[in-house]
This record gives sequence, C-alpha cells and structure tokens, in this order.
Amino acid sequence: MRGAILWFTGLSGGGKSTLANAVAERIRALRDVEILDGDEVRMHLSKGLGFTREDRDINVRRIGFVARLLAKHGVFVITAAISPYADTRNEMRQLAKAEDLAFLEIFVNPTLQALVERDVKGLYKRALAGEIPHFTGVNDPYEEPTHPELEIKTDREPVATSVDSIVALLESRGLLTP
Ligand code: ADX
Repeated sequence: MRGAILWFTGLSGGGKSTLANAVAERIRALRDVEILDGDEVRMHLSKGLGFTREDRDINVRRIGFVARLLAKHGVFVITAAISPYADTRNEMRQLAKAEDLAFLEIFVNPTLQALVERDVKGLYKRALAGEIPHFTGVNDPYEEPTHPELEIKTDREPVATSVDSIVALLESRGLLTP
C-alpha cells in the first residue's frame, strides 16, 4: 500500500484528535494506521518545547519527519497538531511529495465561538483572561490553509459525517485499496 499522510490542522479543541481516532478506527481493517497527536508528541518527542513560532515549527517538523519515516513503510499516518503556520505545513507537503507519499491536508474549522463555548480543557477562558500568552486563535496567529484537500466544520455536523467525507476522499484518491 502506498504511504500516506493525513495532516489535520486547526485550533485547539476543534476536534482534530477525535477525528484522527475516528478515521483510524474506520480504516484500520484496510490499512496499518498510526496517529501522531500534538498533545502526545509534546509529552514524548517534543517534551520541553513551548509555543513560540520557533518551538511550534520544531514540533511540526518532528511530526512530519516521523510521519514520513512511517509512511515510507506503507503506514497510513494521521497527524493532529495545530500546525498554525502555512509555510511550515507546505514544507511538510513538499517533503512528503519528494518521497512520493500522498499528503492530504484537512482543515478542522469550527467557529471560534463554538470553541470558546465548548472549551473542553478550559484553555480559552484562561487565554481570554490573559493568563496564557501566545494562545493560538486568541493572542497568537493561526494561518488558515488556502487549498486544503478538505475543510470540516466540526461544529456543524456529527463526527460520523465528517469521517464519511474523509473516507470518501481517501477512496477517491485510491488510498484504501492496494
Ligand atoms: S502546535 O502549534 O505545535 O502544532 P500542538 O498541537 O502540538 O501545537 O499543541 C497544542 C496543544 O497544546 C493544545 O491543544 C493545548 O492543549 C496546548 N497548549 C498549551 N499552550 C498553548 C498555546 N499557547 N497555544 C496553543 N495550544 C496550547
């Protein structure tokens, strides 16, 4: 099977990890799947990194590096990090392309209002109160993808519907069949 990287990008709490897990579950019978989740990577591979542009870029490049290593061996890799900078995401796309790996960027894009209302980790409340410097979407930039393979408004549809559209995209690219 051809190696592939499904790259989720979007604000914290928007549903990247949920979607990554749900897509992995859905395609596990067809492909070897691994997930590289921002929160998890930051506990292990990127322990000690902060949220300056420089540190985020290091984090994202590490994720891309491991993703390519795995994908080269035919693994279907799903990444779920905010990855806020367009140039760095495009760099990951180019590096994947250079190794003939499929790279699909999925923009997970609920409204900021929905994120603030849900605020699962309580981080938006703290960020809006000025307690977290450089919080993406509040007082730190998020550069929206201009040409994502798919955009998902996670506040407008159930997870299963989003997974359906992602799986349809993968099928249309021939990524679920040998
Ligand atoms: S990235 O920018 O380097 O891609 P990553 O996805 O790994 O970010 O980590 C984001 C997670 O770190 C968030 O979901 C949140 O739980 C936590 N976090 C802590 N501080 C910040 C911050 N200043 N900005 C964004 N997320 C933060």
